[in-house]
Amino acid sequence: MSNATQDPHSAFLAAAGHALWQPADHVRRAQMSDIFSRPVPLEIDFGCGDGSFILAMAERFPDRNFLGTERMLGRVEKVSRAIARRGLTNCRVIRLESNYVAKWLLPVACAATVHVGFPDPWPKRHHHARRLFQDDFMVSLHQVLAPGAEVRIKTDDQPYFLWIEKVIARAKGFERIEWPEEPDYPKTDFEQHFVAQGLPIYRARLRKI
Ligand SMILES: C[S@@+](CC[C@H](N)C(=O)[O-])C[C@H]1O[C@@H](n2cnc3c(N)ncnc32)[C@H](O)[C@@H]1O
Repeated sequence: MSNATQDPHSAFLAAAGHALWQPADHVRRAQMSDIFSRPVPLEIDFGCGDGSFILAMAERFPDRNFLGTERMLGRVEKVSRAIARRGLTNCRVIRLESNYVAKWLLPVACAATVHVGFPDPWPKRHHHARRLFQDDFMVSLHQVLAPGAEVRIKTDDQPYFLWIEKVIARAKGFERIEWPEEPDYPKTDFEQHFVAQGLPIYRARLRKI
């Protein structure tokens, strides 16, 4: 198909190239070399949104690989275009549900750090089952983390944070550790919006034991 007749999504796929990770097989566990050719530590951003966090991290730490998961197509397209435009070879994004990626696709013990920034709070009680933090997700996280690797979680939503703390407390194989304020840790537009309003940000840092 020529460019003139290509539909917008095909054009995006052609342009996104390396930025978008499209597994050859969605039911087989990938090998690290299927995702990044350079064997350096991997950091994962589950629910990377518009990519502002993962893009900043990938630019700051060229000696690490970064993988974002995101289920919304428009956001995946935005992140992919930004990765391509900035010429980042250490950053990729996959359009798939985070727990599926962690549980079924990623190599076991592949991640040095996992970031989860402002996961959707699903405030209505009958939507709580849609929250990312569930007992099963903690098992998937444990599987994907290398020994001693870390998880960093931030949210502005206090009820969801209390929920997350209970899920964490039940999970086996993690210890909660201090997370001193790191001025260099990138803040997404989302976080800056809450900080500008003087709202608290709730944070948890875990280590796999
Ligand atoms: C509130 S936004 C936060 C985005 C970003 N982490 C930040 O800090 O700005 C949550 C993002 O996670 C995505 N998301 C929510 N649940 C997801 C899931 N189960 N798998 C993949 N993406 C998910 C949403 O589409 C949305 O872009």
